[in-house]
Amino acid sequence: MQPFLFRHFYSSNIMLSFSNISERIENKIRTLEFNDSPKSLYTPIEYILSLGGKRIRPALTLMACNLYTDQPDNALDAAAGWEVFHNFTLLHDDLMDKADMRRKKPTVHKVWNDNTAILSGDAMLIAAYRLIGRTPAPCLKEVLDLFTATALEICGGQQYDMEFEQRDDVTEDEYLEMIRLKTAVMLAACLKTGAIIGNAPAGDAEKLYRFGSDIGLAFQLQDDLLDVYGDPATFGKNIGGDIVCNKKTFLLIHAYKRADAAQRKMLDEWMGKTVFEPKEKIALFTGLYNELGIKKLTEEKMETYYLRAMNCLDSLDVPSEKLSVLKEVAARLMNRQY
Ligand code: IPE
Ligand code: IPE
Ligand code: MG
Ligand code: MG
Ligand code: MG
Repeated sequence: MQPFLFRHFYSSNIMLSFSNISERIENKIRTLEFNDSPKSLYTPIEYILSLGGKRIRPALTLMACNLYTDQPDNALDAAAGWEVFHNFTLLHDDLMDKADMRRKKPTVHKVWNDNTAILSGDAMLIAAYRLIGRTPAPCLKEVLDLFTATALEICGGQQYDMEFEQRDDVTEDEYLEMIRLKTAVMLAACLKTGAIIGNAPAGDAEKLYRFGSDIGLAFQLQDDLLDVYGDPATFGKNIGGDIVCNKKTFLLIHAYKRADAAQRKMLDEWMGKTVFEPKEKIALFTGLYNELGIKKLTEEKMETYYLRAMNCLDSLDVPSEKLSVLKEVAARLMNRQY
């Protein structure tokens, strides 16, 4: 508990609404110029950034910053840097996952080609560094170090994700560590970036990181669920992509655990096929998930992380009324349809 005066000091700043935060981010992203030469390098960058998406990462940065300061725009360059970095990971991820659709549109490697996805992605990573480098000087080193360490962790997570496709003995713990690295640390670091730039107490910056990490684990579990159960009209990506690629998702790992001998044989057979009708495999696996109650199990796991995240938020040295925007956003993420 903080002394009254301190709390009063913190509570004097105004909390922006989520729509105000989103507007600032959209405006900022619109100012990013990717119209240099060669066009073939920059047009795909404009394409992916113009398709939007939830923009949840930069929003988390600004919201965390706003908990401690009236000037969350100090974190706007870094927030945009995170969003550009996230979009870079998507270009490479879609190539690695052989995904044809993202945000209801064909992926960059489909509209252009594989090399374009690689090189425009590389350019985005560098552009992201440039934006992060514009962080106000007193916090620059800490933010840059966080960004670099996180980016490397994400590469590690993506490598595990790829390696797991080839393995049939991936454990739940290995899966959880893989999604922590590929997804959760980015949400965590986005929040911590905002906290650092907002001059938050070090303990709060760490707690926001843990909040982001738990929300991130729930977020990836939800992503795995939507990959099977999402509505094609709203999801924006192809349904069943994880099943086709033999991704070791929470769903598949638990289907294996719950399956009887015959069901396991069916899974093994289909996992070993190199030539098959994707629709047929997706229908079979989804049917099995339904029989085995895998959806409910995944939702329960999500709920565990969500509650842990909420507890973490409640332990911040911030008046509780200021937390409502972050709480609302976290709750909405758990019910997202895309
Ligand atoms: C997709 O992230 C990659 C994952 C970590 C699952 P989002 O679901 O945040 O994608 P956009 O930016 O909203 O499209
Ligand atoms: C993506 O995980 C994680 C990163 C891009 C780092 P997924 O491969 O599950 O994300 P989607 O489903 O393609 O968005
Ligand atoms: Mg993918
Ligand atoms: Mg992937
Ligand atoms: Mg996915």
